Amino acid sequence: MSEFLTSYMRWPELLRSALEEPVEGRIEEREFRGLAVVGMGGSGIVGDVIKSLTSGEVEYPVEVVKDIKLPRWVREGWLVLSVSYSGNTFETIEATEEAIERGCSVAVVTSGGKLGELASSRDLPRYYLPRGFAPRAAFPAILVGSVKVLAELGLLAKEVLNIDLSRVSNVEGAIHAGKELSNYLEGFMPVFISNVKYYPLALRGKNEFNENAKLPAKFEIIPEWGHNDIVGWEGWAKFPLKAVLFRDVNDPLTSFAEEFLRGAGVSVKSYEVGLRDFLTEVIWYSMVIGAASIHHAIKRGVNPEVTLSIKSYKQFIKKELAD
Ligand code: F6R
Repeated sequence: MSEFLTSYMRWPELLRSALEEPVEGRIEEREFRGLAVVGMGGSGIVGDVIKSLTSGEVEYPVEVVKDIKLPRWVREGWLVLSVSYSGNTFETIEATEEAIERGCSVAVVTSGGKLGELASSRDLPRYYLPRGFAPRAAFPAILVGSVKVLAELGLLAKEVLNIDLSRVSNVEGAIHAGKELSNYLEGFMPVFISNVKYYPLALRGKNEFNENAKLPAKFEIIPEWGHNDIVGWEGWAKFPLKAVLFRDVNDPLTSFAEEFLRGAGVSVKSYEVGLRDFLTEVIWYSMVIGAASIHHAIKRGVNPEVTLSIKSYKQFIKKELAD
C-alpha cells in the first residue's frame, strides 16, 4: 500500500483519538450573532461541512470564508473559527487578524504555526491537531476538532459527534470502493454532482482528484445544476467526462439528475447518501474518494502526496501580498 494511502487508512484511529482531544483556552459563555469558518483547501472544506451540518438546524448565520478578507457583516458578536492545519496559511492568518481587530470572538483549529502561536498567546479557545499529516489526510481530525470547539462554545450539540465508528472503520471496504471508482474513472474527467446538503462531498471529490491524482475535475450542485449544467450534457459525447453522483435517498431531485444523465447516455456512478448521520456519510465517502484519487495517482505514475503548485502559489501570495 502506498505510504500516503496508509495515512488515509489510519482515519478510524485518527478519528478516535481526535474525539479524545480536549479543547483548550478560555471558553466564553455567550450567545453569538453568527459564525464564520475561515480556512483554505483541505482545512477550509471543514467550513463547508459545518455549513451543511448547521443549515436547517441553527438560527444563526453561517459563513464559509475562503479569502484574505472577511465580509463586512462579520463583526463584534460573531465567532470566527479559524482552521488551518499548518497554521501558516496566508489567507487564513490575514482574515483571523482582521477578525481580532474587528472585535470578533476567535477560536482556532491547527497543528501549530503562526495561528497556533496567536491562539496560545491570547488564550483563545483552541484545538491542536496531530502533526505529520498532509492537511487533506488529516480531514477527520480537523472536522472533529472544529465541531468540538463549536460544541464547547454552545453553537452545536455534542451529539453531532455520535459518528458511526464501525462504518468508518471499514478500511478494506473503502480501499475496495476506491479502486472501483478509480477504475471507473480511468481516462475520463470526473464530474462530482450532489445536492446542496452533500455539496462538501462533491467538492471534496473534485479537490482530491486535483491534489492527489493531479487532474482537473469539476463539481456541480443540485438544484442549480438543473438551471445550467444540465444543458451542457446535451453535447457531452464530445468530451471524456463521467459523472459521480451522490444520490440523496431523501431528495427526488437527485434521482431526477441520475435518470436525466443516464437518459442522455452519460455514464453515472451513483452513491446513495442520506441513510446514516451526516458526518458518518461525509467521512466514509471522503475515505472512498481519497482512496480512489490515490489509486489514480499511482496508476498515472504521479506522487499523490506532493503538491508543488500549491507550494509555489503560497510562495507567491506571501511575497506579493505581505506588508
Ligand atoms: C494540502 C491541502 C491544501 C491545504 C491548503 C491550506 O494537503 O489539502 O489544500 O489544506 O493549502 O493549508 P492549511 O490546511 O495548512 O491551512
